[in-house]
Amino acid sequence: MSCFSSADESAHYGFSVCLLLQQYRDQLRWEDEGVVELGTGDASVIAEVVRRLPGLRVRGYDISEDSVERAMENVAGRGVGDRYTVELGDFFDQADSAGSAPVSTVIANPPYIPAPDRHIRMPELWGGVYGNDLVLALLKAGYDNVIVAVPSYADPLTTVSTAADLGYRVANFLAMGLDYGRYSSEPKVAEHIRRLCAEGRGWAGEHEYMVAVALFTRNPEVPGDRSAQLLRALQMSV
Ligand SMILES: C[S@@+](CC[C@H](N)C(=O)[O-])C[C@H]1O[C@@H](n2cnc3c(N)ncnc32)[C@H](O)[C@@H]1O
Repeated sequence: MSCFSSADESAHYGFSVCLLLQQYRDQLRWEDEGVVELGTGDASVIAEVVRRLPGLRVRGYDISEDSVERAMENVAGRGVGDRYTVELGDFFDQADSAGSAPVSTVIANPPYIPAPDRHIRMPELWGGVYGNDLVLALLKAGYDNVIVAVPSYADPLTTVSTAADLGYRVANFLAMGLDYGRYSSEPKVAEHIRRLCAEGRGWAGEHEYMVAVALFTRNPEVPGDRSAQLLRALQMSV
């Protein structure tokens, strides 16, 4: 087991989650309900968000023991242990456990590395053959609001169309260009990404891709639909 590490990607995730939670504070009702998180990693960026937003409570889960160990240290180090809990385990087994109050918002920078199988540098980051298995699972998990990272090389067209079929709109998003890091540049992964892009299932440059942290919602109080803009930001033709 190891711990996910990609400073730019994590910083973009944390900044975007913070901005989207602030922008849609009233509609998402996170001050009453809190939010849940799939995949804390070392928890450093979301611990910072919790510190900056005094009304925020986060229940996070990660399947990597190393990550949970580091996450607990980072959460304690930032003094937010009373509002950010981190548990070891599969998000889908635990988040809806009996006895916990209903929560309508989930946040995640989920595993999204596409590869033919999970034998990659960090198997916990495998997102299935197309990279979007975990995003699709989150969209099917019953939350009204899903704030999630969507990479350009992991079949974003299917992600957005499945979301629409399930009644979600893209309320807003923050997109950024990222260079391939240690996980995307693994030769087996990079080759697979090239194949997916050639099939029209994504976009990537020679050593770069786009990632957007998007708010998918089916909450009627949140206006608008920026699905087409999201796909264009991810370099997909629509
Ligand atoms: C891309 S990393 C993101 C970590 C952190 N949120 C960040 O942005 O720095 C994805 C994390 O999800 C965890 N993970 C993968 N599948 C999971 C699951 N089913 N339930 C909970 N965590 C999971 C991995 O171990 C990994 O730490």
